[in-house]
Amino acid sequence: MRFKIKRSDGEHSRFDLFEVKLKPHMSVLEALFQIQDEEDSTLAFRYSCRGAVCGSCAMMINKKLRLACRTQVSEIVGENVLSISAYGPIAKPVIKTGNEILIEPLPNLPLIKDLIVDMNPFFKNYEYMKPWFESNTKGKENKMSQGEVNKVDKYAACILCGLCYGSCPVSSRNKNYLGPAALAKGYRFYADSRYQNGDRMLERLDIPQGVWACNHVYRCVEVCPKQVPPTNAITGSIRAIILNKMKKVFR
Ligand code: SF4
Ligand code: FES
Repeated sequence: MRFKIKRSDGEHSRFDLFEVKLKPHMSVLEALFQIQDEEDSTLAFRYSCRGAVCGSCAMMINKKLRLACRTQVSEIVGENVLSISAYGPIAKPVIKTGNEILIEPLPNLPLIKDLIVDMNPFFKNYEYMKPWFESNTKGKENKMSQGEVNKVDKYAACILCGLCYGSCPVSSRNKNYLGPAALAKGYRFYADSRYQNGDRMLERLDIPQGVWACNHVYRCVEVCPKQVPPTNAITGSIRAIILNKMKKVFR
């Protein structure tokens, strides 16, 4: 199997071709290890858990945003792929017919080397959201009902891989946009029955580069490997912001 990999030193880019000896159940990450071990030790990519938990191996594989450790080579050989830049009325599928797999870095973030991008802008937005508990229960137990758990569970599953950020057309053109993962995390805390500073969290979400910048195209929902639906969190936040403002008017 041929792997066509985008290489870069941060300034200049090129594509290199590598031959990979396929093994049963081989993941794209394992193929990258083989290339690094046997063909080019300078190939740079990020990984840690190898089990779809740490979120480090996010990249673009055959023009789709995926985790390399979770993507089986056998499942993507010859697949039909719609290029990420080709959505819309003139969209044409890019057909992968040959025995070649295309690997590129995560879009929308500064490139450091080969498949490694600088995650700082992504984590800066996450930090802005202050994603931790602010509770005034003074150490007392604060139980949740199953219904309350269900409201936030799907947002708590985020592994901070950045695939949603890489797929988002707003993040692509507006570098100040907080992005799907940070906004979903804000809502995850707002919607948690134990969280005490909901109004302050809504203020963080209610800014021009926050929930109001979203285009609601659901690409983040489509690519998330953990089935987190960031667009639903954004819609939920908008509803909460409006209701909160109306309550203040009619108080
Ligand atoms: S919401 Fe999904 S795609 Fe986005 S960072 Fe979290 S796990 Fe990754
Ligand atoms: S190596 Fe951890 S998610 Fe892929």
